[in-house]
Amino acid sequence: MKTAVFSTHTYDREFLTAECAEAHELVFLEHRLDHMSAALAAGCEAACIFVNDLADAARLQGLARLGIRALALRSAGFNHVNLAAAAQLGIRVARVPAYSPHAVAEHTLALILAINRKIHRAYNRVRDGNFALDGLLGFDLHGKTAGIIGTGKIGAIVARILQGFGCEVLLHDPIVNPACVAQGGSYVPLGALLERSHIVSLHCPLTAGNHHLVDARALSRMRDGVLLVNTSRGALLDTRAVIAALKSGRIGALALDVYEEEGPLFFEDRSAEVLGDDVFARLLTFPNVLITGHQAFFTREALQGIARTTRRNLDDFSRGGAVANEVLA
Ligand code: NAI
Repeated sequence: MKTAVFSTHTYDREFLTAECAEAHELVFLEHRLDHMSAALAAGCEAACIFVNDLADAARLQGLARLGIRALALRSAGFNHVNLAAAAQLGIRVARVPAYSPHAVAEHTLALILAINRKIHRAYNRVRDGNFALDGLLGFDLHGKTAGIIGTGKIGAIVARILQGFGCEVLLHDPIVNPACVAQGGSYVPLGALLERSHIVSLHCPLTAGNHHLVDARALSRMRDGVLLVNTSRGALLDTRAVIAALKSGRIGALALDVYEEEGPLFFEDRSAEVLGDDVFARLLTFPNVLITGHQAFFTREALQGIARTTRRNLDDFSRGGAVANEVLA
């Protein structure tokens, strides 16, 4: 199936070519999907997009006009796709439901350990010949309470790893995961989790119902000095409320792999540009904030998994029957 691959980086090209190129003709485009770049998919039957390619109604109409009938997402999340518009236009959508939950879970732990023990600051200090320890004080994870919001594939692994560190794990999810209970985690209402946890980690998808799940009210219920981690989707946090909580000290440490306005920023080298996002710029000023640019998924195993499932999705699309990983409106 001839497929326009938007937002291609060298790593996408490498892994997708290895997995799909025999069966499908891939047209690699460095552009993000937007009103102008949609035209580059002319002559293709499918488009393949990543998390910050916004597939809203207008862009989907543009693709449909070109004859695109299938959209292969290189992600598990599909909050960037207007599914109702896709269905109306006859564009079928498939995602990669799971690639490596371990990749995201392990990055979450990397962030927790780094921000707690101030590794990001220590690294620079030592390179600068500064061996003072003031300002680098952390806390033992052992014996602390960690709250996991969302206990699907990734949350369950994070819970298990934190239990390995000797944490008590509190869980919150509308759907109980029996494996988490078997591991010794306890499901509690969200309020209780926020009030009791020294560490709060988010592992749920962004939906219409949980936009700004962590807002000023939720933050006011958290322990003073809480360590907050978000590797899920940026808009689960109200970033302005988070900044206020950092200033007041309610949040003791913040680690993010996602940001609610990451679309215009992430996945590109912008080091020579003036940063136009004042909220993001303010976040960068805090010594107790550590941000990575949506790289939690970024392991060899995960990229192989994304490429393999994308190939299966394109196979299913081209056969025209059932699509195993179809996302319906
Ligand atoms: P999953 O579908 O296995 O689990 C998600 C869980 O969240 C489900 O059990 C669901 O019931 C629960 N949930 C939904 N709404 C909730 C709410 N309001 N409160 C509490 N729980 C809620 O998904 P998986 O694979 O564990 O991924 C979780 C999230 O991680 C994804 O939705 C995505 O946003 C994010 N992600 C981030 C990546 C990164 O590179 N930073 C890469 C892959 C996923």
